[in-house]
Amino acid sequence: MSKITLTGVGDVDSNVVFDTNPELTLGDDELLVALEAAPIHPVDFLLAQGWYGVPPTPGMTLGSEGVGRVVKAGPAADQSLVGRRVVILPTYEVGTWADQVVVHPRNVVAVTEDADPQQLAMLSINPATAHLLLTRYASLKPGDWIGLTLGNSAVNQSIIALAKRAGYKTLSIVRREEAAEQVRSFGGDAVVLAGENLGARVAEALGGKQFALVLDGEGGDASVGALAQSLVFGGTVVAYSSMTGASQVLGLGDLIYRELELRGFWLINWIRNAPREEIEATYAELAALVADGTLSATVEATYPLAEYREAFAHARTPGRTGKILFAF
Ligand SMILES: NC(=O)c1ccc[n+]([C@@H]2O[C@H](COP(=O)([O-])OP(=O)(O)OC[C@H]3O[C@@H](n4cnc5c(N)ncnc54)[C@H](OP(=O)(O)O)[C@@H]3O)[C@@H](O)[C@H]2O)c1
Repeated sequence: MSKITLTGVGDVDSNVVFDTNPELTLGDDELLVALEAAPIHPVDFLLAQGWYGVPPTPGMTLGSEGVGRVVKAGPAADQSLVGRRVVILPTYEVGTWADQVVVHPRNVVAVTEDADPQQLAMLSINPATAHLLLTRYASLKPGDWIGLTLGNSAVNQSIIALAKRAGYKTLSIVRREEAAEQVRSFGGDAVVLAGENLGARVAEALGGKQFALVLDGEGGDASVGALAQSLVFGGTVVAYSSMTGASQVLGLGDLIYRELELRGFWLINWIRNAPREEIEATYAELAALVADGTLSATVEATYPLAEYREAFAHARTPGRTGKILFAF
């Protein structure tokens, strides 16, 4: 057995150990899960640094999400789960960078056998985020346009897939021409390269239409400010992350004279507060879309857990075109 344990708060490279002899004790109502795959998500590094919404606790196992198979259930747990494939939810009660974990059943959802396990390993965060961002903040109709930053990100890949399925159109901002190609391959309707006169170039690409919703993961003022210029009067900008580290800023005139609304979103609040039936139904629906190929995230490489240092370096490589996963 092995796992990646956080030893202190700071840069992940100098604050983890590869623990080859962890103790696992199965409680009466708990499940023993053998992991199949677990991705490196941007929040894993943020958490180690103490910049995430969940405080880092030295001794915790890192890894926000993953998929595995239940190999044993405590005597008071549901025995029918033994043998089932489950995704581990980002509750941060259990870390997924481990070949085996003990979990309470509230931290897992059983999923279909019909989908690629690597794709299922990435189900619980980004596809759920995409689904909630598209359904909670605007009454979208087929033909409506959505403005997006982090064009080539995995979360955007899910947003584009779900938007396309619902008949919405997407305009994505990217930082690099190769990323623009990638967004087109995801099915993005329009892609605009970041840079000078971005607001004017976004408006031109929309050809007289306006956005019904803007979703921003970049932060700062450049991309989100440019998209907001083309958002409908009174429309909503949802901030779900800040890759730049800066808070979202909208142009004063857009915010006040056009009465735009800036909202925040954090998936973990939904995981913590939504009724269990809603969580199970949402993941069942999204897992079915993974199984039929509607939803997928590009994978660039997989690593065994022991090669975690190479995996971390790869996950941070500029120009990366897909996710890095641990495969067990
Ligand atoms: N609020 C929530 O509940 C929630 C849920 C899911 C995800 N998220 C957040 O969404 C973000 C994307 O996650 P992901 O899994 O989709 O990541 P990902 O696939 O690794 O993609 C990262 C994206 O960020 C871009 N990027 C990196 N550094 C940047 C910078 N300094 N300025 C502008 N863009 C930059 C990358 O562009 P290049 O390829 O050009 O480098 C790429 O498009 C993360 O911050 C994550 O924490 C939040």
